[in-house]
Amino acid sequence: MQFDVFTLLPEVFPAYLNSSILKRAQQNGHLSVDIHNIRDWTHDKHNVTDDTPYGGGGGMIMKPEPVFEAIEDVIGSPPTRPVILLTPQGRLFTQDVADELARDARDLGLALLCGRYEGLDERIRTHLVTDEISIGDYVLTGGELPAMILIDALARLIPGVLGDENGAANDSHASGLLEGPHYTRPNEFRGWEVPAVLRSGDHGKVDQWRREQALLRTLERRPEMLKKIELSEKDREFLETLNFQP
Ligand code: ADE
Repeated sequence: MQFDVFTLLPEVFPAYLNSSILKRAQQNGHLSVDIHNIRDWTHDKHNVTDDTPYGGGGGMIMKPEPVFEAIEDVIGSPPTRPVILLTPQGRLFTQDVADELARDARDLGLALLCGRYEGLDERIRTHLVTDEISIGDYVLTGGELPAMILIDALARLIPGVLGDENGAANDSHASGLLEGPHYTRPNEFRGWEVPAVLRSGDHGKVDQWRREQALLRTLERRPEMLKKIELSEKDREFLETLNFQP
C-alpha cells in the first residue's frame, strides 16, 4: 500500500512511522510511505507557502501553486491516486471509512495533503482534492497527526501486517461490537482473579463468554452500536437477560 504525504512539517513523521508494526510493514514491503515537503516546490528566495486572505481578515492561507506543483509532480496530472485532504471539515473517519479507503489504497495508493495555517486556497479543494477526511469534531493545528492516524488505521488492515492470523477481524469496531476484557498471567494479581472460564480449556465456552462480554461492554458503553449489527438468536437471549430489547 503506497502513501504519498504532502506536508509543511515532514520532520514530524519518521519517529512514529519507523517504529513497531509500521516499521516492519515497510521493511517487508506491505507498506510504503513517502513524505514530501511542499516547501520544495516553491520558487522564491524565502520559500513562501502561505499568504494573506483576499478580502482581509486574520490568519494565513496556503497558496495554491506549491501544493498543485508538488502533487502533480509526484503523482501526475491528472493525479493517478485519490488526493485526500485532512481537515476538520471532512467526513468523519470511522472503521467503515477506513475499510473503504483501504480498498482504494490497495489498488491505487493514496495521496494525503496535510492542511496548515488557517486554511488553504479553495482552488486546491475544488480542483485537486478528491476526498476530505476529519478524524473527529475538534480542531488540531494541522493535518499531520490525522494523516498518521489514517495511515496507521489502513496499514493494519493489510493482510499480513498484524502478526496474528485473525488480524484485524476481531478488533473493537471491526465486528460492530466493542471487544470484551482480556487477561494474561498471573492468574491472581493483588487478590483479583482471572475469570475461571478462560482457564477452563473449553473453547466453546470461552467463545460464548467472549461474545457475551463484547455484547455487555457494547451495551454499557455504546448501546447505539447494537442497533446497527445483526444479532444471533443466542445474542438476543443473552441481551434479554440484561433487560435489553434489541
Ligand atoms: N486538521 C485540523 N484538525 C483536524 C481534524 N480534526 N481532522 C483532520 N484534519 C484536521
